[in-house]
Amino acid sequence: MTAFTYFKDQWTPIIDDYLAKHLASEVKDQKISQIMAYSVMAGGKRLRPLLFLATLNTLGKKIEEPEVRIACGIELIHTYSLIHDDLPAMDNDDYRRGQFTRHKKLGVAAANLAGAALLPMGIKLIAEGSNSAQLVELITKAVGPNGMVGGQYLDIDSTNNASVSGDAKFINKMEWLKTGCLIQASVEMAAIFAKASDIEKVKLIDFAKVFGRSYQIYDDLVDVVETSEEAGKATHKDEAEGKNNTLTLLGIDQSRKELTDLIKQAQDDLHGLNGEVLTGFLDLYQKVL
Ligand code: IPE
Ligand code: IPE
Ligand code: MG
Ligand code: MG
Ligand code: MG
Repeated sequence: MTAFTYFKDQWTPIIDDYLAKHLASEVKDQKISQIMAYSVMAGGKRLRPLLFLATLNTLGKKIEEPEVRIACGIELIHTYSLIHDDLPAMDNDDYRRGQFTRHKKLGVAAANLAGAALLPMGIKLIAEGSNSAQLVELITKAVGPNGMVGGQYLDIDSTNNASVSGDAKFINKMEWLKTGCLIQASVEMAAIFAKASDIEKVKLIDFAKVFGRSYQIYDDLVDVVETSEEAGKATHKDEAEGKNNTLTLLGIDQSRKELTDLIKQAQDDLHGLNGEVLTGFLDLYQKVL
């Protein structure tokens, strides 16, 4: 068992329990609590909260309730982004995390509202867990117009526009914003919260930038490599839907090569840190290489 697998197996159930318990206890109306919990509790890799906690671990910071609260806040925000990403006017997906999407089950209005409720609840958890205006500023920046939502708009706006399919500058920017920013923030918030030294911070942020960029390349490859059962969501659809992404830019072989190069870079970035758990996140990519 790798250090990463051990860490993941230790913390995933704690994240899952915290999310379930607090969605039930902190949302007063049981019906709204349930429409939020449906997508959150469907599983998911818990990548971003685990990244936050693993970065704390790398820095030797003890993980207690406030740290778990922040991690869970990040997951609520990520889940909101998935619910909205799947909406008919966005990617129009029926399956997510191995079950029907929120709108498929309860309609677009409920999905819109579940997402809209998860975002501020996520920010609230981060604010309360951290008591830090700096962390709140970081997360809101990462998922706002200059981050995730901005990237999602560029994605939707460029869908079926073949003229950008090979535009490296555009695609790198769009994929960075929609996916990379939140991943970087998950690591950076931990570095700040654990009071990392300047040297540690530089290394961790370099790692997070490379990991954040690589994650959407991985996800683009998942669409062509995995079955929907393996991925828990529809696959083999990005091309048919007219999506521009790393695959339209580089093709499958070059995308794999790019991902391999980024893995090496991410490992190098952590040199000199206790980065065994963090580098273990890169093992996920082996499935698509
Ligand atoms: C999928 O994210 C959407 C992207 C930003 C690429 P994940 O691959 O982390 O999805 P879950 O959380 O495991 O469902
Ligand atoms: C989604 O990218 C990025 C988000 C911010 C949710 P995709 O649209 O490629 O993600 P999947 O493939 O539906 O999970
Ligand atoms: Mg999308
Ligand atoms: Mg999608
Ligand atoms: Mg995708």
